Amino acid sequence: MKKQWWQEEVVYQIYPKSFYDSNGDGFGDLRGITEKLDYLKDLGVTMLWICPVYQSPMDDNGYDISDYKAIASEFGTMEDLDELILESGKRGIKIILDLVINHTSDEHSWFQQALKDPASPYHDYYIFKEGYQEPNNWRSVFGGSVWEKISERDEYYFHAFGKKQPDLNWENPKLRNEIYEMVNWWLDKGIAGFRVDAITFIKKDLTWDSREPDGVDGLVKCTSASRNQPGIGEFLQELKEKTFDRHECVTVAEAAGVSYDELDQFMGENGYFSMIFDFRYADLDVASGSEWFKRIDWSVKDLNEKIIASQMAIQKYGWSANFIENHDQPRASSKYLRDDQYNPDAIKMLGAMYFFLRGIPFIYQGQELGMHNFQWEKIDEFNDLSSIDQYYRSLEEGFDQKEALHFVNLRSRDNSRTPFPWTKEKYGGFSTHKPWLGMTEEYPSVNAEEQIGKEGSIYEFYKEMIAFRQSGPYKDCLIYGKICPVESSENVIAYKRYTEDETIYCWFNFGNEESVEELEPKNLKQIWSNDKTAQIENHKLRLQPFQALLLKEIEK
Ligand code: NOJ
Ligand code: CA
Repeated sequence: MKKQWWQEEVVYQIYPKSFYDSNGDGFGDLRGITEKLDYLKDLGVTMLWICPVYQSPMDDNGYDISDYKAIASEFGTMEDLDELILESGKRGIKIILDLVINHTSDEHSWFQQALKDPASPYHDYYIFKEGYQEPNNWRSVFGGSVWEKISERDEYYFHAFGKKQPDLNWENPKLRNEIYEMVNWWLDKGIAGFRVDAITFIKKDLTWDSREPDGVDGLVKCTSASRNQPGIGEFLQELKEKTFDRHECVTVAEAAGVSYDELDQFMGENGYFSMIFDFRYADLDVASGSEWFKRIDWSVKDLNEKIIASQMAIQKYGWSANFIENHDQPRASSKYLRDDQYNPDAIKMLGAMYFFLRGIPFIYQGQELGMHNFQWEKIDEFNDLSSIDQYYRSLEEGFDQKEALHFVNLRSRDNSRTPFPWTKEKYGGFSTHKPWLGMTEEYPSVNAEEQIGKEGSIYEFYKEMIAFRQSGPYKDCLIYGKICPVESSENVIAYKRYTEDETIYCWFNFGNEESVEELEPKNLKQIWSNDKTAQIENHKLRLQPFQALLLKEIEK
């Protein structure tokens, strides 16, 4: 691919509500991020993705926007955001914001005017259908019908996500232009680009026909009819031409439902976006991201195959956006490692496995400390809309309360949304006030203060790994090198990064036991590991439990 300025970035994702509370009200805020910029600079990240900070009733923690050009008062002011952009720029850190344009909040003035007056032009900014009952049997991502009745009229509106998140009507050119104007306004402000939310939902099956139910509720997941539908390309192309193409920006799209055959259109050289997230290995433990009760028993081999398939498919056309955590996923150390593997070596090995893949590594706040999932006892302790929905759906599907709670604990989006543990003090030094969401039980021992500067800590490991990729002697190969799989035994993931001049073999042992791997008959030298020395004899590598190892091919 043609070289792009953003290929060398290391992105750190911030969930602002949980990062740092600067004014003691229990909610993280923009000034809190600015206060912690030196921490991020020290870690070595070069770009921040900040989850939505726009005005919002916070039903889905900011993914329900009521004013695209205003900042939520909980998070601060526009001046606070300007200051954050300025201060991060001084430290060589760029900022991308979340762009949520599939839906708004029902409290957005457009929707309020549409409700008040069906003759208003804003009525056609959303999807309304007249009738005495729901127009079809599609189920929303957060549960229940996608249709919500309006109290004053026999009319329903469509929402692919929560009830308070009505979908915008992308068929309406007026609405589209209004969105483009807003996107350009933000890009003109000096941000580096966007993470684009739920973008494959903007086109729907316009027949609105019911489909075969897939649950005991008689409904069917809406994704087959409202995600990546034929014709979506026209909207995405127009969005790109009227906004992103006019700026030197980077975009990474949440584009679930896109097949590997379609990658060229989505993120090839002239694709709609710079990159897209591939969720195939993020969701390997469940049937789908909205069916947590359908657990899937997976093996390291499955994980290996999914990762390699993703890397090879994306390599054909562009650049990957690699991640093992985000604000919708459980903690990686809890998901990808088994219960008896919660040790720092295993967590580091897992971090390195995805970090050295080809593409931009995205690090989610707290991942660099090796945080784990929590274990909550009651459904009322959860805040996340989908956790609550998945709990009741599990009961409806015939599971008992204990089982339902178990599924939710494993998968809850709140797992990654607990306040960031800065210190071992009360409320983890996140706030002086009781935080909006409970801390993890482990915060007195797993926190930033405990790990910064401490030899062998997970934080220091991430810091070193970032520096090694960004400015070490093998930078060129580790960033720009191609990737291909390397034959390995069942608990080991292995791949090769290579350029015309250099080849680096990368090995990661997910097993509790030593594993013996066949090496190609080449001269290899260890260039990096998570602590241990390579044991190589007669072209056999004895990989230690949880060892991560990079070997470079050298001349005789
Ligand atoms: C995906 C976001 O990542 C998630 O947090 C949100 O709930 C939905 N899109 C709806 O905006
Ligand atoms: Ca605050």
